[in-house]
Amino acid sequence: MDAITLLKDDHRTVEALFKRFEKAGDNAFTEKRAVVEKIIEELSIHAAVEEQLFYPVTRATVPDTEDVVLESLEEHHIVKWVLSELETMSPEDERFDAKVTVLIENVRHHVEEEEEEYFPKVRDELGRNALNDLGDAMAAAKRVAPTHPHPRSPDTPPGNLVVGTAAGVVDRVGDTMGGVAQGGVAALGDLIARILGQKKPSVSPRGSSTARSTADTVRAKAAEATDAVIDAATDAQRSAKGTTRKATKSAKRTTRRATKSATRTTRSAARGATKTAKAARTGAKGTVTSATKGVKRTSSTAKRAATTAKRTTRAASSGAKATSTSARKAAKRTTTTAKRAATTTGRTARKAASSTKATAKRTSRA
Ligand SMILES: [Fe+2]
Repeated sequence: MDAITLLKDDHRTVEALFKRFEKAGDNAFTEKRAVVEKIIEELSIHAAVEEQLFYPVTRATVPDTEDVVLESLEEHHIVKWVLSELETMSPEDERFDAKVTVLIENVRHHVEEEEEEYFPKVRDELGRNALNDLGDAMAAAKRVAPTHPHPRSPDTPPGNLVVGTAAGVVDRVGDTMGGVAQGGVAALGDLIARILGQKKPSVSPRGSSTARSTADTVRAKAAEATDAVIDAATDAQRSAKGTTRKATKSAKRTTRRATKSATRTTRSAARGATKTAKAARTGAKGTVTSATKGVKRTSSTAKRAATTAKRTTRAASSGAKATSTSARKAAKRTTTTAKRAATTTGRTARKAASSTKATAKRTSRA
């Protein structure tokens, strides 16, 4: 099972319990007690599994997770103290609701940080196979994880592997501390021997058959948990290295392809630029020649136009002179004609006057 899916499922389970608590009435003491018992169990198991497997494995294999793991351990520590206080507190206590409310706020904040910042980093780095291996180990660890909070117990390996597993067995079987203690000591001895590369010490549990059996169970479960952590960490490291190697190869391939493509593009652009420059030079020469011809053409056209204009002026001028001469002649002719007409008219008038006088004289004589 995918490790992150497993943890997210746990988060949804506790969130449903939180909502159930928030909906319960002020005096629903039985309901609130039952819900808090379930919250204690779920969070104790969840925190133990994260601390035994998820945190140490990811801290060892995912870069830049050191700070978030340390912060998460501190948040778990506070949560476990609050859970341990709630275990013995009556729901009728005036501080009960307030304590649960603070617990819920803390866990919601913790879940948000894990899901939004921490888990995506882990998923990117480890990949599906490593997360499945880690998830299987965590699912197995959940079956023997403590169901009650142990805030004074170690929360990092190797201490939490031995003590956490021992506490889990005690929580579940409710048997003698003697057997658990013996099993815990034996498991710790096994772990030390393993780290030092020595043979496991031979230990014979003492006491009742239940105590001896409990000691053996604790020792075996601790060994299983230790193996699970080591296997999961090894797998995750292998997977992370594989992922890094693949990513490096892929990056090199991409770089080579990009370089080739860039070189081709540069060459093609250079060829294009040379062609464009040549075309521009040819085009410019053509334009200059054409412009020169145009200027020459325009110039001769202008000259021709100027000549035509001179001619027109001259023609106009001589036309005007001719018109003037002709007008003067016409005027003279008109004057002469007028004079003649005046003379003729005078003459006719004088003749008429003499004729009138003669007629008058004749008339008076008669
Ligand atoms: Fe957590």
